[in-house]
Amino acid sequence: MDKVSRRAMVGMIAAGFTAFLFSPSSAGASSAPVISAGEACKRVGRRKSVDGKTFECVRTANGPQWKRAKATPTQPTTSDVKVFDSSSLPSGASQTAIVTSGGKNYAVVLTRTSSGVVAFSRSCTHQGSLVAPTGGNQLTCPSHGAVFNASTGAVIEGPASRALAQYKVSERNGAIYITL
Ligand code: FES
Repeated sequence: MDKVSRRAMVGMIAAGFTAFLFSPSSAGASSAPVISAGEACKRVGRRKSVDGKTFECVRTANGPQWKRAKATPTQPTTSDVKVFDSSSLPSGASQTAIVTSGGKNYAVVLTRTSSGVVAFSRSCTHQGSLVAPTGGNQLTCPSHGAVFNASTGAVIEGPASRALAQYKVSERNGAIYITL
């Protein structure tokens, strides 16, 4: 082999080695993982996100497969909603109101106790009829006669067996708010 051809041979080897060094496979680079629904996966319960889509490895009749995961539900936001002016609820009194939030109506009943205002859902815990103040610090259901304590929401008389749902109340600047 003469000098020229030997030099050419060395050049070709060096070029090949350089190409090998910087090729994606030798550099450890790999193409982004592609997942599609129905494709086999290994570990049930594993979640992966690709292009903003979340997939979960689930058990199927054909073995573990990737499936589009449901979006994680966002936490509902709460907000204070004015019910009425403080002066509308004298000490010891109970009063009903309809408050609207997020396009929904809420039937509530508020009572001013010696330690502040309390608010409950008017939905009877028996079958959902609307309870109403009937005096004596009581709320009564017209459907089957359940009686609740207007200050605590507790059942005084069945057939309801659970207390009324309670709302958080705040009173400021002469108005009463509940948190929905
Ligand atoms: S719905 Fe209220 S007592 Fe039955």
